[in-house]
Amino acid sequence: EEKASMYERIGEELLHRLVDQFYKNVKNDPDLSPIFPDDLTETARKQKQFLTQFLGGPPLYTEEHGHPMLRKRHLPFPITPTRAKAWLRCMERAMDEVNFHGPLRDVFYYRLTLTAQHMVNTPEE
Ligand code: HEM
Repeated sequence: EEKASMYERIGEELLHRLVDQFYKNVKNDPDLSPIFPDDLTETARKQKQFLTQFLGGPPLYTEEHGHPMLRKRHLPFPITPTRAKAWLRCMERAMDEVNFHGPLRDVFYYRLTLTAQHMVNTPEE
């Protein structure tokens, strides 16, 4: 018998609240806001799709946008080690703000640290 995916255990409602809170934090982050669009509605929509499949849920991102190729899609943006740390800090704060705690959070956050490191494409300015 298949165990429930991380996506099912977290649930769509919490995941969506987390992503919305995350982009509020991004908007207020001086290292990150300059490289993001002013309107983050579409960015948040895509991130919900991506994280759904990242956590073992339905492949919503791929269905609409094709293979994620995340590193390649991030190449237009100068992602320094400082920005990767800022991204992770915004996520950690968002997890606290939506009251997401426990082992599921820890595994999810750990996986995000690996992906964030992989996105770094520019040395420190
Ligand atoms: C898109 C920055 C890490 C997933 C973007 C965009 C920026 C960005 C500027 C474009 C936003 C837009 O034009 O709508 C960063 C920075 C990171 C980072 C500075 C620091 C390491 C990550 C990580 C993930 C991720 C760890 C996944 C876990 C995505 C997705 C998109 C995106 C799914 C949308 C791609 C698309 O246009 O289809 N990111 N990102 N990013 N990012 Fe990141």
